[in-house]
Amino acid sequence: MSERNSPECSSMDRRKFMLRGAAGIAAYALPGSAEARAQEDKKVVYGIVGAGNRGRNTHLRIANKYLPEVQVAAICDITKANLDQALADTPGAKGYDDYHKMIETEKGIDAIIVAVPNFLHAEVTVAALNAGKHVLVEKPMAIHMADADRMIEAARRNHRVLQVGQQSRYGTVYEKMIQLVKDGEIGDLEYIVGNLYRGDWNPHSWKYKDTQTGVETNWRFLTHCAGSALLEDGIHELDVIHWVAGAEPSTVQAIGGNNVLKDRQTIDNAGLLINFSNGLRCVFSYTIYSPGVPDNRTLRLLGTKGEMTWGIGTAEEMRGTGNAEIVVIPYSGKAEKVVVPRLTPEERASWHEEAGGVSTDVESLREHIAFLASVTKGAPVFADGQVGKDAAHISLAAERSLRTGRVFPWSEESAI
Ligand SMILES: NC(=O)c1ccc[n+]([C@@H]2O[C@H](COP(=O)([O-])OP(=O)(O)OC[C@H]3O[C@@H](n4cnc5c(N)ncnc54)[C@H](O)[C@@H]3O)[C@@H](O)[C@H]2O)c1
Repeated sequence: MSERNSPECSSMDRRKFMLRGAAGIAAYALPGSAEARAQEDKKVVYGIVGAGNRGRNTHLRIANKYLPEVQVAAICDITKANLDQALADTPGAKGYDDYHKMIETEKGIDAIIVAVPNFLHAEVTVAALNAGKHVLVEKPMAIHMADADRMIEAARRNHRVLQVGQQSRYGTVYEKMIQLVKDGEIGDLEYIVGNLYRGDWNPHSWKYKDTQTGVETNWRFLTHCAGSALLEDGIHELDVIHWVAGAEPSTVQAIGGNNVLKDRQTIDNAGLLINFSNGLRCVFSYTIYSPGVPDNRTLRLLGTKGEMTWGIGTAEEMRGTGNAEIVVIPYSGKAEKVVVPRLTPEERASWHEEAGGVSTDVESLREHIAFLASVTKGAPVFADGQVGKDAAHISLAAERSLRTGRVFPWSEESAI
């Protein structure tokens, strides 16, 4: 097998990446460019709602450690231990246990990072947008399509940035695969095969307390809190598949259920079949009872002349900061490895390797850099409300399909 480096990625600077990645995507650019210019000269003030695993270990860590242009002024969490830890990591920030109060009191906040459990994303986001704040909301954007619409509408009405935490859009590997497809490396793309095989949800997740029974349950086990296991994870891969396919799905169907982890409402396995309106087809498989298996997140693209695969390895290798390898195999001819650096030289120089399973990934850092460019310069939002909504739509359509046995046409949005 021969090897080819990706000069485009190795020479690409961070800013170019964002601008190129965002090209042609529908945007919520700020209409008042004077406001954007004024913002450029001062720090962007963040408020963080949700200081659990993601809020604290990713968003807060990125803001405190990598983004000198950001000041975290306030943090809100209803779990005192998480809030105290986050405040200890952020000298000068004020703590709140009520996000309404935080938004009302902290007039200087420019942007709110929403990292609470899924069922709360819509209400926090809409309240923040209505208060004139920009919002970076974690994926899944919402657990109901109508909520996603409300969020998009609130951003439009208030002329504020709404970005969704689909951070895979900000990595180098998928972008390179799309480029290789466009360059004709595998002929016409016809078929996409993806998978996610992972372990069970974090046992330290916040516990939802049932008001009637007082029983406390990991929020990721409950449909009304998580929306769907596919919304919780799998949504990253499904978003990428949608991006790679370059067209709307026409139908989504799925099988699945709880074969191993039977102590919950949310499923532990699924198999999806997606038809796209451009004739492309996709198969995606998913389990959450399979920790540590090799090749656990792969994307395989089959075209008329050959195939392309990424994702040989474990999640740690795949989400790491080393070089990624895409393997291109023509149906006749020799296989070739395309090496894709995950970090630019500039990023590598300032990257802090984290110890002890802490999950700061370069895609999440880039999502903040892109968000800041939208807030301060009116740059188009790549992972915007529509991207977030479509990713949630696919996940929810699959969830409904595997529960009802029906095939869901894309147009039947109101049914999900
Ligand atoms: N993009 C990614 O790769 C990624 C990875 C992990 C999690 N996430 C998302 O981040 C979000 C949070 O996940 P997590 O792993 O941090 O969960 P978690 O259970 O570790 O933390 C949730 C936090 O929200 C707090 N909370 C609950 N209700 C609240 C309220 N009303 N007001 C303020 N705080 C409240 C809890 O006390 C807890 O600290 C979820 O939407 C999840 O899907 C995204």
